[in-house]
Amino acid sequence: TYIVLLGPPGAGKGTQATQIVQTFGLAHVSTGDLFRENLRNQTELGQLAASYMNAGKLVPDDVTIAMVRERITRPDCAQGVLFDGFPRTVAQADALSAMLAELSGKVDCVPYISVPAEVLVERLSGRISCPTCGRVYHVTNNPPKQPGVCDADGTPLIQREDDKPETVRKRIEEYLKNTAPLIDYYRERQLLVEIDGTQSIEVVSQQILNAIRKVK
Ligand code: AP5
Ligand code: ZN
Repeated sequence: TYIVLLGPPGAGKGTQATQIVQTFGLAHVSTGDLFRENLRNQTELGQLAASYMNAGKLVPDDVTIAMVRERITRPDCAQGVLFDGFPRTVAQADALSAMLAELSGKVDCVPYISVPAEVLVERLSGRISCPTCGRVYHVTNNPPKQPGVCDADGTPLIQREDDKPETVRKRIEEYLKNTAPLIDYYRERQLLVEIDGTQSIEVVSQQILNAIRKVK
């Protein structure tokens, strides 16, 4: 099973991903997380990606596609994959279907978490996340049990470099220009399931899980 989680920056993709992959036994492939992991390990790819990410721009398609192509051949992807933050352009979406065809697979479902722009800014400015396990919190909407530390592993939570207000605005602009066309792309292919992302985290989860169950 291959699922594409679609939605603007701050819609809640990372928040929902943990439960989806646990429920269905999928590998979590987040291109944003992969770029940040490369940056922490100071690889060339990480340094290249950071120059785009910190400006709120998309990393070039060829670089992103090559990284995903390698990632999905690893053994943990054999039961299926949840793609989070990929594809983000029509070129990436076309490349993804070609890659999955080689594995005799296809995109099975595209839950689209829809959230208006004004809500996104508030969510991203209050976001804190765990550099160890990737869990995502919000200072008021979804605080950790103990302020500033991860519930799962006790790691001090951090704010992302690209969550500064001016970078957030640029990321939303890039989304509207390059990624929003994928809503119609997947709707035309009858894969899109639109979910109102302004509902509670629990309700959004239930609706995504139900959508995926229908195609499993
Ligand atoms: P990436 O890491 O993918 O960031 P993003 O898409 O901008 O998404 P976010 O992680 O910011 O948001 P999210 O939807 O996961 O929301 P979250 O769950 O955290 O990409 C970063 C950068 O990498 C890009 O800008 C680009 O440069 C590069 N990149 C990555 N992939 C690429 C690609 N394919 N091609 C090219 N470049 C690429 O939630 C946000 C906040 O809201 C949290 O605080 C959370 O607690 C809260 N929240 C979540 N749900 C709810 C709810 N229902 N109610 C209230 N609060 C909620
Ligand atoms: Zn953690």
